Amino acid sequence: MSPACRPGVNEALLCIVLLSGLCSCLHQYQFIDELKTWGEAQQHCREKFTDLATVDNMEDVAQLIAAAGSGYSGRVWIGLYDKSRSWTWSMRDDGYYGTNNEPYIRWKAGQPDNGRAKWKLCSTVYGGELYDTSCSFRRPFVCYDNSNTSSPPRYVYKSWRNLTWEEAQSYCRKFHTDLASTRNAEEKTRVQQAVTGNVFAFVGLYRRTWPSWSDGTEQEFKNWLTGRPLANAGDCATSLIGAADAGKWVEDHCDQKLPFMCHYEKQQQLWIKLKALKSTMDLNDPAVMEAILKLVSLEKKMKEKGIKAGFKLRWIKKPDNTIFQEEKDEL
Ligand SMILES: *[C@@H]1O[C@H](CO)[C@@H](O)[C@H](O)[C@H]1NC(C)=O
Ligand SMILES: *[C@@H]1O[C@H](CO)[C@@H](O)[C@H](O)[C@H]1NC(C)=O
Repeated sequence: MSPACRPGVNEALLCIVLLSGLCSCLHQYQFIDELKTWGEAQQHCREKFTDLATVDNMEDVAQLIAAAGSGYSGRVWIGLYDKSRSWTWSMRDDGYYGTNNEPYIRWKAGQPDNGRAKWKLCSTVYGGELYDTSCSFRRPFVCYDNSNTSSPPRYVYKSWRNLTWEEAQSYCRKFHTDLASTRNAEEKTRVQQAVTGNVFAFVGLYRRTWPSWSDGTEQEFKNWLTGRPLANAGDCATSLIGAADAGKWVEDHCDQKLPFMCHYEKQQQLWIKLKALKSTMDLNDPAVMEAILKLVSLEKKMKEKGIKAGFKLRWIKKPDNTIFQEEKDEL
C-alpha cells in the first residue's frame, strides 16, 4: 500500500484518482515512430492513448519536442486539422437553406486561394463570383433584408463607407437582416446586380480555419512556421522536430505517411481521509461508496489543486477488490 493510504485511528481512507482531460498543463506526449497517414495515426492514438496530440501553449511545445527524444529529426503529425470545406453563411436559418446541407457556393475558378494562418476567412463577390479574402480588409458589402412583410426580400448594396467583414455583419444585422447569402443561380444574379461598379463586396460566407484539435479542443494557441499554413497545401498539421524551427507547425496532405505524436492524460491521485460514522458500516458496499462520494466536496478539493474542469473520478481498488481499509482502534 502506498504510504499516503496508511489509515489513521478511526479513519477510513478513500483513494481517488483524478483523470484530468482538459487541463492543458497536464498533456503528456507519446512519440510513435511508425509511418501512418493522419487518419491512421488518429485511430492509433485513440485506441492506445487519448488522441493525436493537442498543443495548447509553449509548455506543451517543449514537452512535445522532449517526448520525441533526440533520435528523430523531421516532422510528426499532431492533432490539428482544417476542415477546408467548412464554409457557412452568416445568416443562420435552417428553414431558409432547406434540407440540402451542401451550401450553394460558386467560387471563381482557382478560389479559395488565401493563406490559412488567420483565425477566420471571409468572402467577397466580384462579377457575381465568390472570392475568399481576409476578414479585416475594408470593403463595400451586400446585406439581405426580409424585414418588410409586404414586399419581397431584397439585397441592399452598401458602398457609402467600406467596413471590415465583422463590421459589415453587425451593420446588416442591425439595419437589415444579415449579410447576403445565395441559395441558387437566381439569387446569385440578384446579388451580382445589386453591386454597382467593379468592386469586391463582402457577402455572408465565412469559415473558421483550423477550428479544433482531434480531441475536440478548440484551437486558440497557434505556433505555425512563418508563412504557414498555405492555401492548398494540405489539411493536416505536423510539428517540426529536431530542426532549427523545432515545435513550429507546418501543414501537409493528410494521406502522407509520417511518425506521429499522441497525448494522454496525466493521472493525479488525491487522497481523502474520512472518519467512519458507524463502526458497523460496510464501506465497501457500492451504495455506501456512492453516498460518500456525493458527500465529500470533491469539486472543492480539485479546485484547490487547480483542476477546474474535465476530470473523472474513480475508486482505486486494492488487490483484494476492496477500496477502504478497515481499521481497528488501537487500544
Ligand atoms: C414595405 O414595402 C411596401 C411595398 O413595397 C412599401 O410600400 C413600404 O414603404 C415598405 N415599408 C418599409 C418600412 O420600408
Ligand atoms: C471602398 O473600397 C474600394 C476598393 O475596394 C474603393 O474603390 C472605394 O473607393 C472605397 N470606398 C470608400 C467610400 O472608401
